[in-house]
Amino acid sequence: MKKLLVAMLGAALLLGACGAEDTEEPPADEDDIDTEETDEAAGDATYDAANGEAVYQNQCLACHGGDLEGASGPGLEGYDVDTILAAIEEGPGTMPADLVSGDDAQDVAAWIADQ
Ligand code: HEC
Repeated sequence: MKKLLVAMLGAALLLGACGAEDTEEPPADEDDIDTEETDEAAGDATYDAANGEAVYQNQCLACHGGDLEGASGPGLEGYDVDTILAAIEEGPGTMPADLVSGDDAQDVAAWIADQ
């Protein structure tokens, strides 16, 4: 009985390992950064919060306040990721455009939207 259990466990582990490899390989081979970024933006849960907070402190805090309460710029509570990304790209009013880009922009937008 014990042997059978061990054999079944072993088979399950093997199957699990193969399954994981199968699903991971295609995206890695494609080398398509754009798709990965869209996935991250859509899946709110997966972003680098520590990086987002660091980017906010370096690039946004001076105008938008330490608690998103606003300073020379407006408070940033209640904004969704897309609006924040658009603001980063366009630079509304006196806000400079393109302060951050790529993963930094995704992370900081997701971090702000989560606060
Ligand atoms: C130099 C000051 C300054 C910095 C730095 C700055 N902002 Fe702004 N931001 C502003 C001002 C001013 C506005 C209001 C613009 C307007 O609507 O006239 C604004 C508006 C916004 C808005 C609102 C846009 C809307 O549609 O209502 C968002 C979101 C935003 N900023 C995000 C950011 C993020 C994220 C960063 C850091 C990457 C950042 N800002 C850095 C000054 C700044």
